[in-house]
Amino acid sequence: MSDLASVDYFTDQAVAQDPYDYYEYLRAQGPVFREPHHGVVAVTGYAEVMSAFKDVESFSAVNAIGGPFPPLPFEPEGDDISAQIDAHRHRFPIFEHMVVMDPPEHDRARSLLSKLLTPRRLKENEDYIWRLADRQLDEFITNGRCEFLSEYAKPFATLAITDLLGVPEDDRQEIRHALGAGRAPGATVGALNGDPVGRNPLKYLDDIFSAYIAERRRNPRNDVLGGMASAVYPDGSTPELLDVVRPATFLFAAGQETVTKLLSAAVQTLGDRPQFQQQLRDDPTLISAFIEESLRMQSPTKVDFRLARKTASLGGVHIPAGTVLMLCLGAANRDPHKFDDPHTFRLDRKNVREHIAFGRGIHTCAGAPLARVEGQITVKRLLDRMRDIAISDAAHGSAPDRRYRYEPTFLLRGLTELHIEFTPV
Ligand code: HEM
Repeated sequence: MSDLASVDYFTDQAVAQDPYDYYEYLRAQGPVFREPHHGVVAVTGYAEVMSAFKDVESFSAVNAIGGPFPPLPFEPEGDDISAQIDAHRHRFPIFEHMVVMDPPEHDRARSLLSKLLTPRRLKENEDYIWRLADRQLDEFITNGRCEFLSEYAKPFATLAITDLLGVPEDDRQEIRHALGAGRAPGATVGALNGDPVGRNPLKYLDDIFSAYIAERRRNPRNDVLGGMASAVYPDGSTPELLDVVRPATFLFAAGQETVTKLLSAAVQTLGDRPQFQQQLRDDPTLISAFIEESLRMQSPTKVDFRLARKTASLGGVHIPAGTVLMLCLGAANRDPHKFDDPHTFRLDRKNVREHIAFGRGIHTCAGAPLARVEGQITVKRLLDRMRDIAISDAAHGSAPDRRYRYEPTFLLRGLTELHIEFTPV
């Protein structure tokens, strides 16, 4: 990684393991900079990423997930390619899901989701998550050690969403196992490549939820799935079955791997910086700041993409219509113009909640409240039920020369494994 100017961010394995030096190289070129390999314009400045998120007139979300892959299915023409985007939208990855939609379709999809994620539902879900955390810990706590992702974080994240969606208890374990929670990583990213279940959970979940909701349209019931089945658009019209199913399905795709990555980053910090363990036990009100700082320091969604639909200017840089923007959340969250001493994990950071790990604007993460609750409850219950949480030297080497492996993707930031040891309380 000595010559950062020649690095291809999308394929370089060393940068996938540690992107932060490369982000600093990009930042040194300016907050908005065209990288040479794929012609992608990388945005590392906090203010510039915020502007791009908010300017939905100029920047479409149609390529939010894939960025430059696959290449645009058309040759951009002129200073406004809105009509070309609309004509080819169905050829972009996961075009059926709200994260890549633009207004007004996005407003309609999101309005259905807000019927599902009501404050009451989130509160009931939170009560379940407290119980779930303990149940998950019970599975291994007496061992005094665990591989945190497979034994806790993955099954926990999956089961939290099955409860949010009101999946009947009897079916939850089956979904947990079918989605591979508790075994191999990478399931939802695999979904983008269109592989079978285990690797194509979106299709698998579409089928399951279609069956639940169709059944409740025939036989109405007063439960969460029944509420989804009877949901209508703001104009009173009834959505097609799949238009209700897809926001539900997408919650799995969006909320499992990202949460797993947040939880493992937080526990990694507890293990590597043991002083935080007692500090958080002594004052649990700090746990919320601890989770926010974990999101800022190790943003699980490293980058997010937009496509310039109109010729525009961003941070003073000319952006022709058809340009792929790479919004580097992991870099913006370490922008020294926004965050003092940005590479240091600090519990006393006044503006930590202004991080943009959950994006901003109309596509702001719909699951952020759930992700936060999952993070806070996990840290609280771990600290209550374990003493002396330590990173396993046998698995990761001893400090300061730890060996951690991160998933080799340009999109997400997260450990592949995290082995910890502890004394059960
Ligand atoms: C730490 C965990 C999470 C992180 C870092 C995260 C990150 C993000 C980001 C950056 C976006 C914006 C994408 C864009 O603008 O292109 C997003 C959107 C979204 N997230 Fe999350 N997410 C997390 C957890 C969750 C969970 C738990 C759920 C569901 C239960 C969820 C559901 C969604 C949905 C539905 C969207 C699309 C919203 C829209 O397009 O209007 N996320 N997330």
